[in-house]
Amino acid sequence: MKQLAIFASGSGSNAENIARLFHQGNRIRVGVVLCNRKECGVYQRMEALGVPVIYMPNSSWDSDPERVIETLRPYGIDMIVLAGFMRAVRPEIIDFVDGRVLNIHPSLLPAYGGKGMFGHHVHEAVIAAGEKRSGVTVHYVTEEIDGGDIIMQQELEVLPGDTAATLEERIHALEYDLYPRAIVKALGEMTSAAVPPQIPVPHPQAADSAPKPAAPASPSAAPVTPPPASPDEAWAKALHINNYSDREAERARARAEERRVPPPTGVAAGSPATPPPAGSLMHPAVAEALAEGKQIPKSYMWVSILMAVIFSTIPGIVAIVYSASVSSRLSCGDLAGAEKASRMVQGWIIASFVIGVLSATLWVPISILTGF
Ligand code: GAR
Repeated sequence: MKQLAIFASGSGSNAENIARLFHQGNRIRVGVVLCNRKECGVYQRMEALGVPVIYMPNSSWDSDPERVIETLRPYGIDMIVLAGFMRAVRPEIIDFVDGRVLNIHPSLLPAYGGKGMFGHHVHEAVIAAGEKRSGVTVHYVTEEIDGGDIIMQQELEVLPGDTAATLEERIHALEYDLYPRAIVKALGEMTSAAVPPQIPVPHPQAADSAPKPAAPASPSAAPVTPPPASPDEAWAKALHINNYSDREAERARARAEERRVPPPTGVAAGSPATPPPAGSLMHPAVAEALAEGKQIPKSYMWVSILMAVIFSTIPGIVAIVYSASVSSRLSCGDLAGAEKASRMVQGWIIASFVIGVLSATLWVPISILTGF
């Protein structure tokens, strides 16, 4: 049994696909998922599959790789799989699994790779450049961003009406097919186990377009051959998943669907980014962050109140000081000074109000965008 660790930062649809597929067999397991964000879709997706997800702050990824390694150690990890993980992996972690760290990138590397090229940015760049083809690459991770040896790559055509969003959707479908096969291939390279060079692709249309066995001309003309396995069954066989059956997979999917709890924000984890309705006050970056599975922190209300109180208190105190000055100046007959102090009181009251409101309301988008 080979154990995988998945590192994720976002919606986690690839992580879910990998775990769901391999857990139908008995050769590969996802032992643990590490995530560098507190609020993202991968927690819910993995909960439904019974896979632990551990939060690991960015400070550990950047400067405390030992903490990551010690977290992984009890799981006896053979390979690390990055699935939408938006952080550099320190060389110490790569060494811990003898270089067996895989990443999936949504382009035909080396094109559209490197710093700043991730997720939807890749698709936007591909569309802007008028490319006719794009695709998916699975590669080994090295210190160079998107620079390691390529394990598998698969192309698709960029269609004339494609937008970044439609392209991303089709790329995702391609990823769900390619990544598990690339993992099996890399595990095969690791153990030198024989892995079929060409594993059938379980494309949804394949079932319809797969060549049907020719009907024998007469009952005695040809031996009766058993009907071919479905594309998914053939694929599972190639992946050495022994107990796979379409019917059981369908049942497992239905059971997982029943158990799935909708996210509290009303955004389905991993659902494609839904643009805010026309006229909505929601900033597109916030809508996108929510659609990626980031959620409003549970601490939101209390932190907002605290922020409002803290930030409005200082100008509030200044306003009180000035109002004391108004009365003392009036009692001394200093009308001009009292008028000036009165203007200052008004100014500081307004400042206290504005800063209080801003610190309370801006907390929501800032916390969502930073994943705090
Ligand atoms: C995937 O499309 C993956 O290729 C991309 O992030 C997405 C994560 O989706 N990764 C990169 O861009 C890495 N440079 P998911 O969270 O739904 O699996």
